Amino acid sequence: MAKQASNGENHSVAKPPPTPSPLRFSKFFQPNMRILVTGGAGFIGSHLVDKLMENEKNEVIVADNFFTGTKENLKKWIGHPRFELIRHDVTEPLLVEVDQIYHLACPASPIFYKYNPVKTIKTNVIGTLNMLGLAKRVGARILLTSTSEVYGDPLVHPQDESYWGNVNPIGVRSCYDEGKRVAETLMFDYHRQHGIEIRVARIFNTYGPRMNIDDGRVVSNFIAQAVRGEPLTVQAPGTQTRSFCYVSDMVDGLIRLMEGENTGPINIGNPGYIRDP
Ligand SMILES: NC(=O)c1ccc[n+]([C@@H]2O[C@H](COP(=O)([O-])OP(=O)(O)OC[C@H]3O[C@@H](n4cnc5c(N)ncnc54)[C@H](O)[C@@H]3O)[C@@H](O)[C@H]2O)c1
Repeated sequence: MAKQASNGENHSVAKPPPTPSPLRFSKFFQPNMRILVTGGAGFIGSHLVDKLMENEKNEVIVADNFFTGTKENLKKWIGHPRFELIRHDVTEPLLVEVDQIYHLACPASPIFYKYNPVKTIKTNVIGTLNMLGLAKRVGARILLTSTSEVYGDPLVHPQDESYWGNVNPIGVRSCYDEGKRVAETLMFDYHRQHGIEIRVARIFNTYGPRMNIDDGRVVSNFIAQAVRGEPLTVQAPGTQTRSFCYVSDMVDGLIRLMEGENTGPINIGNPGYIRDP
């Protein structure tokens, strides 16, 4: 079996995908789709949960260690019969019977991912290994939220998925960007070696309700400065470009990727770039 990735490469798969639970094929009992969202208490994850819960055929399980996410983001679902919230760190194995895994668990903002860089690497590498192990065991399809930071300090603009990036392996951001690169590698190796059904999204700057006002990123900084009546500043005026995506569009993109046939990697962002003023 060969799958075409979005960068045009063929990924020959050694084995067919693992067989999902027999209930999937039962004639008389039609279960709901059981979906695990790691990092579901965070900014993007909680919006993804809201969207998945709209579908009454979905049961949603969130696993989160609440490092940057909060129960508050999910409070409207706590106690709902199709929803379950587990305090769990993805660096530890997790055994749950699910059909799909959206693997988002990882701090996304530099302030938080640099706070404990070794933990960030563990979350990206061991966390992704654990989720791939789970996907293999129960036959689930798994989607990884990677990042545009895998392109590092890019030498080509804009970056499409065929670009391999320009990344500093020993820089202060490498716990995050190299961590995500290894996570992508693991995804494709599990796909080729074990036939796991994978989807890889490379997310660009996302904004919207529930983003952390103190996360140090450009949109939150701008809003915080405006709210406090401070002058609007950027770090390196005129030198950086960014692609901004509203969170509901991001969530639609993630669900379409999960439901579609393309493994990715797929950039999800905005085709229009904005230059820092
Ligand atoms: N927001 C963006 O602009 C952006 C850009 C690129 C990639 N991403 C990716 O999207 C995903 C979600 O980002 P976000 O903006 O919602 O970030 P976020 O920090 O709001 O959410 C991350 C969630 O993961 C949880 N988490 C962190 N480490 C964990 C661990 N070891 N075990 C279990 N849970 C853990 C946090 O508590 C939080 O709820 C991340 O994988 C991030 O790398 C986001």
